[in-house]
Parts: sequence; C-alpha cells; structure tokens
Amino acid sequence: MTLTRTLLASLASAALSLAGSSALAQTPAKLKVGLMLPFTGTFAALGTAIENGFRLHVAENGGKLAGREIEFVKVDDESDPAKATDNVNKLIKRDNVDVLIGTVHSGVAMAMAKVAKDSGTLLIVPNAGADAVTGPMCASHIFRSSFSNWQPGYAMGEVMAKKGHKKVVTITWKYAAGDESVRGFKEAFEKGGGKVVKELSLPFPNVEFQSLLTEIAATKPDAVYTFFAGGGAVKLVKDYAAAGLKKNIPLYGAGFLTDGTLEAQGADAEGLMTTLHYADSLGTPRDNSFRLAYAKTFKMQPDVYAVQGYDAAQMLSIGLNAVKGDVSRKAEFADALHKARIDSPRGAFTISRSNNPVQDIYLRQVSGKENKLVGIASKALADPGRGCRL
Ligand code: PHB
Repeated sequence: MTLTRTLLASLASAALSLAGSSALAQTPAKLKVGLMLPFTGTFAALGTAIENGFRLHVAENGGKLAGREIEFVKVDDESDPAKATDNVNKLIKRDNVDVLIGTVHSGVAMAMAKVAKDSGTLLIVPNAGADAVTGPMCASHIFRSSFSNWQPGYAMGEVMAKKGHKKVVTITWKYAAGDESVRGFKEAFEKGGGKVVKELSLPFPNVEFQSLLTEIAATKPDAVYTFFAGGGAVKLVKDYAAAGLKKNIPLYGAGFLTDGTLEAQGADAEGLMTTLHYADSLGTPRDNSFRLAYAKTFKMQPDVYAVQGYDAAQMLSIGLNAVKGDVSRKAEFADALHKARIDSPRGAFTISRSNNPVQDIYLRQVSGKENKLVGIASKALADPGRGCRL
C-alpha cells in the first residue's frame, strides 16, 4: 500500500516535471537586450531613431527574435565617455543582458567594446564609426550595423578630388569620429591629387564656430570638408551660411551633416553634397516599405540612424536564428553573419571579416527636406580593417 502510494507519487512528479520541461521548451526565456544610447544631449535624436528602428524590426517579427521574446533594458549614455565603462557594466553585471546594442559616440563605443571583449558579451554597434572597433579592438562577437568613420570620409575624398578641388580645409569635433573621418577623407583626396591645407577642430560637443569660420574665410580654400552630426551639424550648417561662406566656398561632408537635421537646417542646407550609406530617395521597394512602416509607427520620417537600428535587429535575428537563440554559440553566430546578405533599406550589404558592413556609399544632395540620391560614390566599399586580427 505504502509502496504503491510512493510509486504513484513519484510517477506523478515525473509526469509533472516532463510537462514542465516541455512547457519550457515551448517558451524559451526572454532575450534581454541592453540598449545603451544617447537620449539626452547633441545626439539625443540619433539614439531615439536607432531605438525606433530596432523596435520596428522586432515588432515585424511579432515581438520575438529566433522565437525568444525580447525584453529591453535602457541606459542613457549621454555621449559621455567618462561614464561609459560604468554604464556598460550596469547592463552586463546588474541587468545580466544577453546582448548589448550601442552606441552613437565613438569614444563611448570604444569603452563598450573593451568591456564587451573582456566579458565575452555580444555587441552590435548601431552607429559609432570608431575605426578601432573593427580594427585593433575587433573581436569575433563584436559587430557593426552602420559604418566605419573611414568609409564616408574616404568616399568623399574621391568625389572632391574628381571635382577638381585642390586646396581644402577640414573642420570637425576633436575626437575619434572627427579625426578618423578627416583621415579617411584626406587619404583619398590627397591620393587623387588634392591637398588638405588646414585641419580645424573644436572639442566635442562645443558649437562655438565663429573664430574657425573666420579662419576659413581668411584661408580661402577651394572647398571645406566636415564631419558633424546631430545638434552640432544643425548649428554648423546655419552658422556657415550666416557667415556668408556658403556661396563662395562649397561645404561638403560625411552625410551625418544633413541626416535627421534638415527640418532644423531649412534653406541653409539646400544644395549641400554629402556621402553616406543611405539616401532619402532610393526608391527601392525594400526602402519604400521600410519608410512607410516607420512613418506610420513613429509619425516621423526615418533617417540613416533608424536604418542602422533596424539593421542591428536584422543582424541579431540572423545570428540568433543560426544558433537557435543560444547567444553562447559565438562562432556559429559570427559564421552566419559572414555568410549573410543583409536585406537593408539602404540596399543589401555583407559583413567583412572584421565585422563591419561592406556597402555602397552614395553621393547625395539636399533638395528641400530630402537627401536626394545623386549616384554611387563608392561601390561595395570595405573598411580596410587595419590592425584587426581575427
Ligand atoms: C561617432 O561618434 O562615431 C559618430 C557620431 C554621430 C554620427 C556619426 C558618428 O552621426
């Protein structure tokens, strides 16, 4: 009798645990995504666009990636490199995120990449172009859905040399993104026969441009190349026009100068030519459907940052599908991305050995509220990945 009861009890508990495990198999644990982005400061709008884009792709997949529901944890990194290590450690150690998505500012991204590398945490960078992240700091579990700072700069160097400009002044923020954008520009521009005669800069995120604009006027170059983004880009374009420089010394830039900024820049941006891996008038079915869905969902037009956020989610999805949602299978995750063609609104792109997009860089020109496509400045441009050993 007692024996029968014991037997029955253990049978019942075995049945229960079986039921439990099959229920578990049907509902895998949520995937915790740590979004480390700027939600305040000069890059605040960029952070929001990236988050929107990421969420749009997740929503299109019914709120799941590789069958796992997504739970977001957010940190405002304020584009402050001094706070970056603490912020990323909060996400990894306190919140136990499975994957990190971030960020916009190159200095903050380098701190993130260091922690991600040391801790083995999967990281997808949805903007920051810091060359080092897919260069000397590269790792098999660190990816970028955006660009390297070298890429748009290099493409514009070729464009401006071909236009016959000889003598150019550069102006940017003094930090990794500005320095590297100018370096990429200079590499191609001087190879094409031009000369950078002066490199002007001011500390990030300052926007007191007056004395630098006076120096440009005095130097009288053929043209100016610039890297600014977000609120700083709005101010530079307005101040450049107000100083009377726009009509005499053409201003060119990496496309961040006029992306997500045209409402605020108004007529002062009209006609500006820039290079970037996105444009507003690609007119492909893929981009049209993305733009429509984004505008419907968020009641605003998408920009390059929205595309990069969307593609960060697409890349995560491709990797996760290959490893059935198990982020610890890093080699297979990376393998899947190296074999993939990512079906981006910008046009399909591939991922290089050093985990950076290989992509077309477009030449665009501002017309009204759009960065209109002029042509392809550089086809399937791959960052050289200098210093990356993988
Ligand atoms: C960067 O810091 O790498 C950066 C920031 C804003 C941009 C592009 C690059 O729009």
